[in-house]
Amino acid sequence: MSEVASPRLLATDAPASVKTNLTRAEYCSPDIYAKEIEKIFNRQWLLVGHISLAPEPGDYYVKQVGPESLIIARDKQGALRAYFNVCRHRGYRLMDDHSKGCTDGFVCPYHHWTYDLDGKLRTVPGTRDGQDFRFDEYPLHEAVCDVKHGFIFVWLGKETPPSLNQALAHWNNDEQIQGFEPERLKLAHREIYTINANWKAMLENDLECYHCSHGGHVSLAIACHFQAFYADKQNGQHFPLREGMSTFSMDGQRVSKKSLGAAENGESAGFLLWPFFCGPVFFVDHAVSLELTPLGVDKCQFICEWYVHEDAVEGEDYDKQKVSKVFHITNMEDQAFGERNYQGIQSSRFVPGALHPRREDGIIAAYEVYRQMMAAD
Ligand code: FES
Ligand SMILES: [Fe+2]
Repeated sequence: MSEVASPRLLATDAPASVKTNLTRAEYCSPDIYAKEIEKIFNRQWLLVGHISLAPEPGDYYVKQVGPESLIIARDKQGALRAYFNVCRHRGYRLMDDHSKGCTDGFVCPYHHWTYDLDGKLRTVPGTRDGQDFRFDEYPLHEAVCDVKHGFIFVWLGKETPPSLNQALAHWNNDEQIQGFEPERLKLAHREIYTINANWKAMLENDLECYHCSHGGHVSLAIACHFQAFYADKQNGQHFPLREGMSTFSMDGQRVSKKSLGAAENGESAGFLLWPFFCGPVFFVDHAVSLELTPLGVDKCQFICEWYVHEDAVEGEDYDKQKVSKVFHITNMEDQAFGERNYQGIQSSRFVPGALHPRREDGIIAAYEVYRQMMAAD
């Protein structure tokens, strides 16, 4: 008997009836990644936070959104604006990463060009408007910004977007979400995960719960009803809870004493967008927002924010560690899944595999959209 087995030669093409994930190049090629930024990232509404992060005129915060840094600001009239964090002089990053505050304008730290809250160039050291160039020709670059149920979305591309309402119309659960009074929230905690994987390895993981039941998410399994996920054809419409569980937490018990609106124990609702997976999910006592963005062909970022009722008092009504614990543990587990999946995908022998038609139908649906968007002009 031979001591070594002959390697089996594998067919690399799946039958047409089988839905698959993508080719190795689609996960690993810098050229395809550049095309994804142009055709998908710049043509999708992306979640960047909640209105409570900039409630008053002059309030602003800086957020990394994939390869872009944005300044989300409320102008003097109270309108939300989203500026690319790029000085119009020589392109310096205008405001510090992750900074926030209240201001009457933005001053570039390099040569002190100064911009108004509406993005207009106000002053340039050493010259006057019209002396050497016209200031009105150098406003900050601006993204389209809109709000749905208290959450702020941006459109980074130069084309006119479909309205945010139109992009979210298929959810058809506005009334239920309004029951959570989603405008009346405040940030309790934020975690930023930098993940060594192509963004689509994480997207796939976010769109299925096939991996949840095999010991992958022991903490999540306490409150979450995994089987009900498979039946949820609108992946993300709600996060089903097990019988008797009130909310998403380590023990299924509430993590904040103040309810969101008229929500009841065990209730949940959400609305999500993809291919770049983002959106909020509401529970009786807190909400969680999720943002998946790319940082490069082999790196992505996942931002998770936890919100509680605006009147909830930290230390009295909630403990932010308790509010965030179950999702934080789950996010770290998912990060490990995504990174290890991407390690396998980078092998020269990786070929697209068969997706489970019922437990991975969320991925199948998302890749139909992905392929259409990539093929569009
Ligand atoms: S680059 Fe901003 S002032 Fe020079
Ligand atoms: Fe997971």
